[in-house]
Amino acid sequence: MAESTAATPVATPVHDETATLETGALLNTANLVDGEVEVTWKNQPGTSRFSPFWLRDHCHAKHSLHPDTLQRQVDTFSIPLDIAPARLDIVDGGRMLHVVWKHDGVRSEFPATFLRHIARTEGREVAPRLRLWDRASMGDAFPSVAYEEIMSGNVGLLRWLTMIEQYGFALASGVPVSLEATEKLARRVAHVRETIFGGMWDFTANLAFKDTAYTPVAIGPHTDGTYSLDSPGFQMFHCLQFDGEGGESTLVDGFRVAEEIRRTDPISFEVLTQVKVPAQYLGDGVHLRAAHPIIALDHNGDYRQVAYNNYDRAPFRLPTPRMNAFYKALKSWDGLVNDPAYEICFRLAPGTALLFDNWRTLHGRRAYRGFRRLCGAYLNKEDFESKLRVLRSSDKSA
Ligand SMILES: [Fe+2]
Repeated sequence: MAESTAATPVATPVHDETATLETGALLNTANLVDGEVEVTWKNQPGTSRFSPFWLRDHCHAKHSLHPDTLQRQVDTFSIPLDIAPARLDIVDGGRMLHVVWKHDGVRSEFPATFLRHIARTEGREVAPRLRLWDRASMGDAFPSVAYEEIMSGNVGLLRWLTMIEQYGFALASGVPVSLEATEKLARRVAHVRETIFGGMWDFTANLAFKDTAYTPVAIGPHTDGTYSLDSPGFQMFHCLQFDGEGGESTLVDGFRVAEEIRRTDPISFEVLTQVKVPAQYLGDGVHLRAAHPIIALDHNGDYRQVAYNNYDRAPFRLPTPRMNAFYKALKSWDGLVNDPAYEICFRLAPGTALLFDNWRTLHGRRAYRGFRRLCGAYLNKEDFESKLRVLRSSDKSA
């Protein structure tokens, strides 16, 4: 049970460095300036401004925000567009702002911590601190937590999920070698996702499915569900039985490779982030189809999702110069994800389960001979993230 400390952060998005300042935020003054409410802070420099309409819409008084569900009770559409405050009062030693509105005399209330948080983040969720890795920086100490620790308390689960968030994968050691224990581990994190392959899956080489994952040949690095509008967010693997040679698992940090292309080949990076590549799954009575860029960025330019499976790419065509640029970028991408410098390789022995971020980490498998029984599950991105938020919030309040 050793957390790797070898991986170095290569590029990290916006972080929560100032989050601790929010909990002790205290208001100093509040005045109407140029039609906006401008506040100053007792314990921080600078000013923050809020529009009167926005404030009325985000009032924290019970009549405006349900105290339990935090659902909006305000009738946004009855707020006059020219709403203005009649009074602004800082109360409770700077912990609250009270605003009495001119048009109806109603009083709105705003905790200083809420206003400070909004002023800092604009309401956007703070991006997690990612630790991008390659073969050299990851070393041999892979992030891992014992099954017992994950299952017995929230501290162990939070530690495991935080590693997965940072590195895009982590192992669980000492997992009882059964489908049932693996399912318990998966359900400790999130709902098991039902797909065309079922919920918890359990397979050996089986050509009944029209998918290369069900054969003993080598599988290059890829993400699953490129043909899905909402590709599975996470995937769990647990090898229940192996009697043979080969079959090692491989992982590649897709964000690390993306960062390399961003740094060395901006033209290909633009193509990989802009061209939506269609993919499809055809067979077994279904025809799934979706299109994703190989590297998806969010509105801040941070990495959101990598989606790459050259086996499942569907036919598409662009004007020849753009198509040629796409093939060049695709070749660069494929060359890097297949470069051993970016890949870690290990044998998944019975008793060690792997959970990885399928929106970031590409996975593959060496060819094997013999008998191999693998089980696992897909989990949804949103359920994993929800679990992390809940664990973090109860960790803070503990
Ligand atoms: Fe796969």
